[in-house]
Amino acid sequence: MRIACLLGSPRPKSNSSTIARRFCEAAAPFGATTETFELNKLTYRGCQACMACKTKLDHCVLDDDLKTVLEAVRAADLVVLASPVYYGDVSAQLKGFIDRTYSYLVPDYITREDRSRLPRGKKVVMVLTQGNPDENLFGDIFPKYSSFLGWEGIEESHLIRGCGLQGEQSVNERPELLQQAELLARKLCRS
Ligand SMILES: Cc1cc2nc3c(=O)[nH]c(=O)nc-3n(C[C@H](O)[C@H](O)[C@H](O)COP(=O)(O)O)c2cc1C
Repeated sequence: MRIACLLGSPRPKSNSSTIARRFCEAAAPFGATTETFELNKLTYRGCQACMACKTKLDHCVLDDDLKTVLEAVRAADLVVLASPVYYGDVSAQLKGFIDRTYSYLVPDYITREDRSRLPRGKKVVMVLTQGNPDENLFGDIFPKYSSFLGWEGIEESHLIRGCGLQGEQSVNERPELLQQAELLARKLCRS
């Protein structure tokens, strides 16, 4: 199994990255190989809405650091998308990637049932960490993005969510979250 792990936090030892990395570590004994991308270290632009991917190409026209990431996601069996919650959404670093996945959609995606250029069967694990301890806040982020991922042909998405994580590395005081990552890796990568 090939995993593409996208880290959306700018912090070097972030809560969301720690959970995502633990997931990938736990997947390794089952033969999974992981390619990890620290988005904050890459140079890329958001979608330019040039429509080249809908009119003359089957991929994004932009030739920047996100090109490799988009290719790795296309080739992966499982994609980990990790991000802190910033103002009730994913970080700008991850949102920049998500907007560029517009290039995975076929030109007539609005009217077609089969909207995606991606191979079927891909799974996504989303990791979201937030400072606020109230689970009722920002619970809309995962359903929103998993619905868009469905457009891209990803029918199976899972969430690992850490609430009340303010300081860098505060996840280390929450072993149950790291255990959740391990259990999910075992469940998804065992077969
Ligand atoms: C710019 C910014 C915006 C934030 N917005 C929110 C927010 O809307 N809700 C929340 O609960 N926490 C918010 N936080 C706190 C982070 O989500 C929280 O510390 C998270 O665990 C950081 O994850 P990381 O360590 O992976 O970067 C914000 C932090 C920053 C720096």
